[in-house]
Amino acid sequence: MIIGIDIGSTTTKAVAVQNGKIIKTVKTKAFDAVTSATGALGKLIIESNLNISSVKKIIITGAGAVNINNEIFGIETHKIDEITAIGLGGMFLSKKENVIISNIGTGTSIIEATKEKITHLGGTGIGGGTIIGLSKELIHSTTFENILRLADLGDLSKVDLLIEDISDSGISFLNNKSTASNFGKMLETANKEDIALGIINLVYQVIGVISVFAARSRNNDSVLITGNGSKNIIGRKILEEISQLYNIGFEFPPDAEFATAIGAALSES
Ligand SMILES: Nc1ncnc2c1ncn2[C@@H]1O[C@H](COP(=O)(O)OP(=O)(O)OP(=O)(O)O)[C@@H](O)[C@H]1O
Ligand SMILES: [Mg+2]
Repeated sequence: MIIGIDIGSTTTKAVAVQNGKIIKTVKTKAFDAVTSATGALGKLIIESNLNISSVKKIIITGAGAVNINNEIFGIETHKIDEITAIGLGGMFLSKKENVIISNIGTGTSIIEATKEKITHLGGTGIGGGTIIGLSKELIHSTTFENILRLADLGDLSKVDLLIEDISDSGISFLNNKSTASNFGKMLETANKEDIALGIINLVYQVIGVISVFAARSRNNDSVLITGNGSKNIIGRKILEEISQLYNIGFEFPPDAEFATAIGAALSES
């Protein structure tokens, strides 16, 4: 059995892979690299009743990987760069050998993965961390569940300047409810719910549109969404709207938040 551990900026993910199949996944908060790696490994072993002696190797990736330089509990460790891990994990989850991946974590990276080559196309600092940070300051809310609960009740037209505010008809392929300017209206009567939705909308519209441009630049018509950001239900709806406008599909595979850890484990199995 091979274990892949992804020490991300916010959360640590670990997966156990045997014969090319995922047998267990776990998630924990990211602490210092050693605590993250040993904690995730311990959780994985205990929750799945596995025997630690059946672990052949541990492959580590993510922002915190540089800090692990030794064996963990006598098991050899290897490192793989995060971009390669996302590319391998994305190909595995999509079952495709030519895929554009938008990994929405604390920040967002966009990767083209083919059997021959894995390329970092670019990305943006806009990501899950932006949602948490702006929410903390603007609506005094820091838990993800709370932000989503508020946003679910929000009215975007109180926060965003919409096409209907500036034109009697749509503009080009945009419809009257499309955003003309994120936070460009910001009514004084906007409440926490409206602002929460405005924040999530800002983040997912930016990620959606740059993902579309990345896919188009590589002649691809779909984007695989990975990272914890793939699990944001409101974010998904915003990406679906962008998909309609731009004719690029977004895919949300199961286990998307573990894509990077899966890629790490698969790199040596
Ligand atoms: N239950 C949840 N559903 C969806 N998104 C969540 C959930 N909990 C946290 N998030 C968001 O996911 C982000 C972290 O995602 P993820 O774990 O993929 O990032 P990371 O790997 O730690 O960071 P990076 O890859 O950028 O180094 C947080 O900033 C938060 O906004
Ligand atoms: Mg990550």
